[in-house]
Amino acid sequence: MNIVKAIYPGTFDPLTNGHLDLIARGAKIFDHLIVAILRNESKNPLFSVAERVEMITAATKSFENVSVATFDGLLVDFAKQQNAKALLRGIRAISDYEYELQMALMNRRLSGELETVFMMPAEKYSYVSSRLIKNVFRLGGSVDGLVPPMVAERLAARVAKDAKDESQTEIQ
Ligand code: PNS
Repeated sequence: MNIVKAIYPGTFDPLTNGHLDLIARGAKIFDHLIVAILRNESKNPLFSVAERVEMITAATKSFENVSVATFDGLLVDFAKQQNAKALLRGIRAISDYEYELQMALMNRRLSGELETVFMMPAEKYSYVSSRLIKNVFRLGGSVDGLVPPMVAERLAARVAKDAKDESQTEIQ
């Protein structure tokens, strides 16, 4: 049987409902979808890779054909190792296009076998990004409905911890 496996790569710091929307769409057209988190500490993430694996695993547990993995090095090497035929990426707005085109063409140059497939998330998530979520949440704004419940809980816990650490530093 010819199983079509795809990789949905990203930083996912943190997972948003826009990412989840794309995962649901990808799970419908591919036999198996691997959500692959880049292990790149140089990006100074809010959540550790282990925390992100945990959150994505919880949020995708209802999808039988979705799994979660981590990778470092070249994405095309990870895709080859996993026997994947496609990379899935989301395009929210025209502003995403240039960066995505560059990556897709570079990945094609590195591995001609691998296709990049672009999908659009639901319009209601077209302005949602992990960066904005972190920013709004840190400043006390509501991100209700924009992230899965477990992500909202972890964000609240992290912001409370950071505030406590900061007040202790000020006292010292
Ligand atoms: O969610 P992001 O941060 O836009 O995801 C970017 C990601 C992880 C897909 C990209 O940085 C990546 O593939 N990095 C792995 C290194 C690599 O293969 N670089 C060459 C591809 S252009």
